[in-house]
Amino acid sequence: MKKTIWLLSVTIVVLIALSIAFAQAKGVKRKRVSAQDYGNVVINNFSEKNNVAPVVFKHWLHRTKYTCRVCHVDIGFSMKAAETGVRCDDIKKGFYCGSCHHEDKDSFPPLEKKGFSGEIKNCDRCHSYGKNVKFENEFNKITAKFPRERFGNGIDWEKAENEGIIKLKNEIQGITIKRKPLENQKDFGIESKITGIPAIIYSHKKHTVWNGCEVCHPDIFSAKKGKTQYSMEDIFDGKFCGQCHGIVAFPNDDCQRCHTEQV
Ligand code: HEC
Ligand code: HEC
Ligand code: HEC
Ligand code: HEC
Ligand code: HEC
Ligand code: HEC
Repeated sequence: MKKTIWLLSVTIVVLIALSIAFAQAKGVKRKRVSAQDYGNVVINNFSEKNNVAPVVFKHWLHRTKYTCRVCHVDIGFSMKAAETGVRCDDIKKGFYCGSCHHEDKDSFPPLEKKGFSGEIKNCDRCHSYGKNVKFENEFNKITAKFPRERFGNGIDWEKAENEGIIKLKNEIQGITIKRKPLENQKDFGIESKITGIPAIIYSHKKHTVWNGCEVCHPDIFSAKKGKTQYSMEDIFDGKFCGQCHGIVAFPNDDCQRCHTEQV
């Protein structure tokens, strides 16, 4: 028992020292944001050029309702901020945000009909950057009963899904093509290259809940174990696991959530 505690504290000290070293080596890449701003994406390819405020897309809210796969595979949003190049006309035609933000779909359209000739303009709810907008969905209210974590949104998303606190839609009518799901893969261990650092248990099963297979294969990882070579520095740099961890999924400060295996 004593030995385990000792090993554990050594591990923690090593991890803290290394994380400071990594932070110094790389400079602090992403500044710390508040729990409710973590994962927000500001989209401004066309907005300011056309005299409207930039769009703020909130991952925390949308991921209480949908899997990552629905948006990043079926709808086709890029996993790099501003890369998709959405136009407001696309939305009105039912593409991109308009797959859901449309009359008779899951959420509010840019212009909502009301009564015979009335209209509600929902512009500000999306074009909200730098504005004082009153939102219908408040972070503190919606997430009040979610299980907690220390970093990122301050929410244990894995647990929230597991315990059925959130129920994720994995298809959108008229957009998702039905096909037989691929067989789930075994979980596996990833050894770290430095001795004394706990190995990682990588769970295919848990990742597939959110990502299906296609978010990761073949773009981020080869589907052959050991083929993709990367280091912790790559991850901090936003590559491989870092394509999601540190941006939308729990951040890389949380060393022990990945480096779980006992030394
Ligand atoms: C569901 C979210 C949403 C709503 C509601 C919305 N927009 Fe947009 N709009 C976007 C996104 C996303 C873009 C692309 C932003 C960018 O790249 O700058 C955009 C772009 C624009 C642009 C830039 C030019 C172009 O061709 O895309 C204008 C102008 C615009 N919107 C006006 C409006 C007006 C006016 C309303 C209200 C009637 C509105 N939008 C409502 C999401 C929305
Ligand atoms: C409702 C749709 C939707 C869902 C669900 C969704 N995303 Fe996104 N995601 C977007 C949009 C829109 C963007 C911005 C794309 C653009 O600007 O071109 C984005 C961007 C990203 C980015 C890049 C952000 C940046 O700042 O560089 C990452 C990483 C990402 N998503 C990961 C995820 C993960 C992981 C999940 C699931 C936990 C997820 N997304 C769920 C719509 C979604
Ligand atoms: C897969 C479906 C889906 C997609 C795609 C999607 N949304 Fe949403 N969005 C929703 C749902 C559902 C809600 C919550 C219900 C509501 O408030 O109407 C929501 C809520 C929002 C809100 C919160 C407004 C408030 O008052 O709280 C904003 C802002 C928003 N979406 C912007 C966007 C933008 C911008 C995009 C595209 C870049 C987008 N959404 C793409 C389904 C979607
Ligand atoms: C979050 C990312 C992610 C998701 C989602 C994911 N995988 Fe993987 N997969 C990986 C990683 C990482 C590896 C190891 C790659 C390496 O070491 O080069 C891997 C390896 C594999 C391998 C090779 C296994 C071996 O023993 O050689 C197969 C096959 C595979 N995945 C299939 C799937 C299928 C099928 C799904 C969906 C049911 C899926 N993956 C979902 C990340 C993912
Ligand atoms: C496509 C996006 C994506 C990629 C790539 C990805 N993850 Fe994740 N991962 C997630 C999401 C989403 C969750 C759910 C928890 C959250 O969002 O904070 C998660 C959860 C986890 C968990 C917690 C699961 C548990 O066992 O409780 C671990 C550990 C983890 N990821 C490790 C990794 C490692 C290691 C890699 C690289 C080999 C990786 N992830 C690549 C999106 C991703
Ligand atoms: C999202 C999951 C994840 C998180 C969070 C994470 N790591 Fe890692 N780490 C990995 C993976 C995966 C590898 C193995 C890469 C390989 O060698 O294949 C790794 C490898 C390492 C290595 C071995 C050397 C190297 O560069 O490959 C060190 C040291 C390390 N991590 C330290 C840390 C520290 C310190 C933190 C916290 C600040 C941390 N890690 C957080 C996934 C993670």
